[in-house]
Amino acid sequence: LEEKLQLVRNSIKCYPDFPIQGILFRDIFPLLYDPKAFSAVIDLFEDHLKNKFPQIDLIVGLDARGFLFGPVLAQKFGIGFVPVRKKGKLPGPTLSVSYSLEYGQAEVEMQSDVVQANQKVIVIDDLLATGGTLAAACELLNKVGADILECLIVIEMKALNGIKKLGSVSVHSLLQY
Ligand code: PRP
Repeated sequence: LEEKLQLVRNSIKCYPDFPIQGILFRDIFPLLYDPKAFSAVIDLFEDHLKNKFPQIDLIVGLDARGFLFGPVLAQKFGIGFVPVRKKGKLPGPTLSVSYSLEYGQAEVEMQSDVVQANQKVIVIDDLLATGGTLAAACELLNKVGADILECLIVIEMKALNGIKKLGSVSVHSLLQY
């Protein structure tokens, strides 16, 4: 376990002052460049879920980097994957939730007929910062009556306390900074 975590930790590259001055950007793409590191991430998530939840119906991933991990993990469990996208990207009937960013507003959307009431879902994304995006995704899932088991995150930025926005929803992260 510690070995796999170390592999994941070592694969994340830091870029100071990206995309703007003062932000230390943590790039998760090197994880996908190294197949061993990518397997380690998926294994860690899979083992965690297997030990904790007897039944999972769906994996819900957030636009865009939740899409890298979610479908692979869903395949491991033989279950479906559902995207929550930035507004205006999904066809057909959708539900949306808007939320505040540091400056301005953002909106996330989900197709309204893909997640059924009481389905047991796991939500996945690469990074938890202020928690706004993840909280909005959970609000979408609550609208359809889904049972959110847990949110899985590769990197949690502890100092921003994003977990607070999620209320009682449990969050499991692999790395904390
Ligand atoms: C990043 C990250 C999360 C979100 C976290 O995505 O991948 O989805 O921000 O921030 P928050 O906790 O403050 O809401 P971004 O909006 O940059 O979109 P992208 O994945 O399409 O690049």
